Amino acid sequence: MTDSERATRRAILAQCRAMTASGLSQGMSGNISVRWREGLLITPTSLPYDRMMPEDLVFLCRDGTAEGPRRPSSEWRFHRDILAARPDARAVVHTHAPYATVLAILGREIPPLHYMVAVAGGATVPLAPYALFGTQALSDAVVGALAGRTACLMQHHGMIAIGSTLEEAMWRAGEVEALARQYHGCLALGQEPPLLSAAEIETVLQKMAASGYGAHRG
Ligand code: 13P
Repeated sequence: MTDSERATRRAILAQCRAMTASGLSQGMSGNISVRWREGLLITPTSLPYDRMMPEDLVFLCRDGTAEGPRRPSSEWRFHRDILAARPDARAVVHTHAPYATVLAILGREIPPLHYMVAVAGGATVPLAPYALFGTQALSDAVVGALAGRTACLMQHHGMIAIGSTLEEAMWRAGEVEALARQYHGCLALGQEPPLLSAAEIETVLQKMAASGYGAHRG
């Protein structure tokens, strides 16, 4: 294993542990992948993050063949398919973050209630329709929901954020959870929040693109 591969594996592991420590994930839920050579490095299935070692991460070829002693995350299909569909993405973070998941259970996307919704690439954080975990149907649903976006909710499941680096994907996942918490707070007060207009969000998107907003996270 090269130094560079070892460093990438360590970085994934560090983000897995940070994901749990920050409350974005709990127990063994969630999974992370990073584009690597002709495939990807991905967390193994059903292994607690505090017991996971760099060598437990799995290298997965584009055809789904896994290398190493562990089995890849049950969600390897959508990690592989998102990275194939999105040349702009180098990392995929999937979590069952509590507030994002509450909204996803209720079948709600996140509307433009705060200008930061633009960090997901548009006026909403869209919702992918429910499909069974680990299936091609789920992969197709999330790849569809992510079209033109960098994050989505997953009905009855959780959320996905992508990034041009792993740090950026994790930052975006945290921002989506913050938006979900804000939306939940409005709904808990018995109100649908007032929303920003499409024109206002477009201006935010342009300003973020011009300033490279969020890019420092890499
Ligand atoms: P894995 O342990 O197989 O990655 O599954 C966790 C999960 O969150 C499935 O959606």
